Amino acid sequence: MEKTLQGACIIGQSGGPTSVINASAYGVIRTALDNGSITKVYGAAHGIKGVLDDKLYDMGEEDAYELSLLMNTPSSELGSCRYKMADPDKDDTDYRRILEIFKKYDVRYFFYNGGNDSMDTCDKVSRFMEKSGYECRVIGVPKTIDNDLYNTDHCPGFGSAAKYIATACAEVYKDAHVYDTGMIVIIEIMGRHAGWLAASSALASLVGCGPDLIYLPERDFDMDDFIARASAIYREKGNCIVAVSEGIHYADGSFVSEAKTSATDGFGHAQLGGLASLLSAVIKERTGAKVRGIELSLLQRCAAHIASKADVEEAFLAGKVAVESAVAGESGKMVAFKRECADGKYVCVPTLVPLTSVANFEKKVPLEWITEDGAGVKGEFIDYALPLIQGEPERPTENSLPRYARLKKVLAK
Ligand code: F6P
Repeated sequence: MEKTLQGACIIGQSGGPTSVINASAYGVIRTALDNGSITKVYGAAHGIKGVLDDKLYDMGEEDAYELSLLMNTPSSELGSCRYKMADPDKDDTDYRRILEIFKKYDVRYFFYNGGNDSMDTCDKVSRFMEKSGYECRVIGVPKTIDNDLYNTDHCPGFGSAAKYIATACAEVYKDAHVYDTGMIVIIEIMGRHAGWLAASSALASLVGCGPDLIYLPERDFDMDDFIARASAIYREKGNCIVAVSEGIHYADGSFVSEAKTSATDGFGHAQLGGLASLLSAVIKERTGAKVRGIELSLLQRCAAHIASKADVEEAFLAGKVAVESAVAGESGKMVAFKRECADGKYVCVPTLVPLTSVANFEKKVPLEWITEDGAGVKGEFIDYALPLIQGEPERPTENSLPRYARLKKVLAK
């Protein structure tokens, strides 16, 4: 049995938000507030930047009901960041500052909620604390709509985004079929390097409204082949719905949308977007059809109104397990999910995996789940994704609009 470690904890949120990342924050905060080993619970403003800037919120000052509303509040309530930590062997300035802040507030537990880049931050902080001889247990809490974290069956945030994408695609399909004159619609979906989100559009086929073509970054994109296929489907059916991942690229690796923007985030990732209008212009010129390009953009990662109950509950569980594991003595790990089956039903089992096995890796859609023509996904993907979008969580409302958490965000001194 590990010796009890008494001290404060910090929870930070990092990277692109999701509609359930706050449920994970609540899982950490509620469990930590109720745990005798944890003396104070701090929320870092804008992730690791809040630690560096000494900007921590005292979560013990919050009203319990408002905190519980985090379960249904989209986006990162504590604020997020995209901040690349230096290699500590080359420049340890940030790490020394983090240690200083940890000592100032007697922080003995650090929980970081994010995707691949955030797990890299988490891993580096964990290793630096260990090297410094400062006892601090570090656990990563997974999140990403992209669903591309390694060593876990799936990631909190994906199920809700997948459910939104499938529903939005089905609704667009309905709208796009109203006129007798027909239409081509290009729907652009997030995901830089992995196509889990774009593949989710295929779930719309379960209600008879699936896209005709689906393009993922796992396969090289061929513009001529796309034009030929979309034109043929339009000629034959009078309509064509195309779901396309923002990350599609040519055989030489260059993003199809890259020409449109040169902006990058803190990690040097190209900011993608504008692909729907680019492909719309190309296909309009070739076919003369009425064409609409739709970018789901932020809508797909903040659509808490259509969140999956399974996803919300699993997001909370990830936060809760992170705290319980750290108090039990674990460190340098990320909470991951294993998929099991009990009485023919999907069961999500939390487990721990080393941060080093997650940081900086990307999990792609298996190539064997993509149709041979590279323009669709197979039943295996549907079987995988379907359990993750299940259920409708209870959502408090006010004036028939969502009632989100209103936190005081009292700064710690
Ligand atoms: O967090 C993942 C993600 O949603 C990607 O799919 C997308 O490319 C990216 O974030 C966009 O993030 P930002 O908010 O930095 O523009």
